[in-house]
Amino acid sequence: MTEILAAHDVAVEFTHDGQTLQAVRGIDLTLDEGETLALVGESGSGKSTLALALLGVHQLARGKVTFRGDELASVEPHIFRKHVQPVLQDPYASLDPRWRVARSIAEPLHALKFGNIEARVASLLDAVGLAAEFASYLPNALSGGQRQRVALARALAPEPSVLIADEPLSALDMSVQAQILTLLADLQRTSRIALLLIAHDLTLVQRVAQRVAVLYLGRVVEQGPAARTLAAPLHPYTAALIAATPSLARTAADAERLVLPGEPPSPLAPPPGCEFHPRCPIARDICRTERPLLVEHAPGRKAACHFAGEITRSSDISS
Ligand SMILES: Nc1ncnc2c1ncn2[C@@H]1O[C@H](COP(=O)(O)OP(=O)(O)OP(=O)(O)O)[C@@H](O)[C@H]1O
Ligand SMILES: [Mg+2]
Repeated sequence: MTEILAAHDVAVEFTHDGQTLQAVRGIDLTLDEGETLALVGESGSGKSTLALALLGVHQLARGKVTFRGDELASVEPHIFRKHVQPVLQDPYASLDPRWRVARSIAEPLHALKFGNIEARVASLLDAVGLAAEFASYLPNALSGGQRQRVALARALAPEPSVLIADEPLSALDMSVQAQILTLLADLQRTSRIALLLIAHDLTLVQRVAQRVAVLYLGRVVEQGPAARTLAAPLHPYTAALIAATPSLARTAADAERLVLPGEPPSPLAPPPGCEFHPRCPIARDICRTERPLLVEHAPGRKAACHFAGEITRSSDISS
């Protein structure tokens, strides 16, 4: 596996009413060529902030982001912009309402001096499943799903190596979500683009991701191969997210036992010890005082929990 984009001990801070809020608190994460890595976690866990840090948008309070092993500051900006493309949540906001579809898709191509732009636009429309006549449409004539297809075509236009998609489906109807997800998965497979997919819905993650990273309060608490992680989570927080997903919860009893009490703590005042302990069904004394590090428990599987794996072993979800 060749690493393409990576976060090394990345921290991002914001100032809130004179207080420092650490939205991302020392994350190590690598995205390999051609893989789909899903980033999951509750609202406010830092997913979008990490995505923006990886896109070079946020200034880092600590750590570094590397593209093909080189720190971002030393990568030519036009090379980085060509290779690492965002796909945003809201396809309504991401297209200029005055531009016809062809112009939106072609826009990144002009700067890159692509040869036959018209032919390239036609093949991109085809790749995202839109008929050729859509080239002359204005965004207000398109449905949400069609807009997201156009946004995807534009992201694919410069032949990127990485797509960073921050909840690309959440503004769409359920039926359209499935279509766009299938399209995204097909494009990723055929073009070997690496995809960092931020998603709330673990059912979607299970369908398309090879690996998953779980964020809690600005840190990765578990990461590993998606299938094994979702089948037998090491961290009780991952188990709770799974239990809250009806199609993945093993039994009604598990869903009840693992339900997450309360809201995530404020990043302005993270709890001492393991940040998850106030909501954790298996927390013990050590969890209140010592923060567990993210360590490998099985090949490719890491978790930050003093009792990693216990949640799965202690219940019928392991059977
Ligand atoms: N520009 C900003 N200024 C101040 N605080 C911010 C800013 N962006 C994010 N935050 C704070 O950083 C934390 C992480 O936010 P982030 O948007 O990364 O979470 P998220 O996991 O993407 O959530 P969601 O699932 O709701 O999109 C939150 O506490 C949020 O309030
Ligand atoms: Mg977000």
